[in-house]
Amino acid sequence: MDWKILKARIIKWIRTGSTKKQWNASIHSVFANNCIKCHGVIPGLPDFKQFSVVKSLAATDMGASPASLTRVSHIHLFGIGFIFFFVGAIFSLARGISEWVKAVLISVPFVFLISDVLSWWLTSLSPQFAWLTIISGIAYTLASVIMLSVCFYQMWWPSFRHSGRSY
Ligand code: HEC
Repeated sequence: MDWKILKARIIKWIRTGSTKKQWNASIHSVFANNCIKCHGVIPGLPDFKQFSVVKSLAATDMGASPASLTRVSHIHLFGIGFIFFFVGAIFSLARGISEWVKAVLISVPFVFLISDVLSWWLTSLSPQFAWLTIISGIAYTLASVIMLSVCFYQMWWPSFRHSGRSY
């Protein structure tokens, strides 16, 4: 039988709860005909002659648990929030940058930190939200890099420090 059809049958069986009834009725033979020549004889590979082994591998991975999401959300919001707070505080003293540019650059990391943490929870509802995690990460990293580069340049770059410019 075509591999794609086999795959679809196995996936359908898993999505409908990987029941013992269906296993006995039809799925068992799919494994018997296609899989056990390896999975059942090669040591170290899961033995697909046993329903319990197939059943355990058919479990759907639901991603991070609410408990671990809560823990990591807490660490990120407070830990990274603090870093952004200090970076923003130092950047607020930078010279030659208009107030509104400062306001935007200082707020961006906080906004995207929240959307980042929110996106993990939303991703456990729908995988589409993984995009929000990526976008948020890029956004707050960019804003931080800009702020840190300006700060380091103005604090440490000799020609800037000694120029005495106050623009
Ligand atoms: C020609 C031998 C062979 C056949 C036939 C075969 N497999 Fe495998 N399978 C392997 C090997 C070797 C590995 C381990 C690969 C690795 O660890 O990188 C594996 C790994 C797996 C795993 C991951 C196991 C784990 O521990 O997470 C699954 C699931 C799996 N196969 C399913 C199947 C299914 C379903 C079939 C039949 C439709 C099948 N395999 C047919 C050789 C085979």
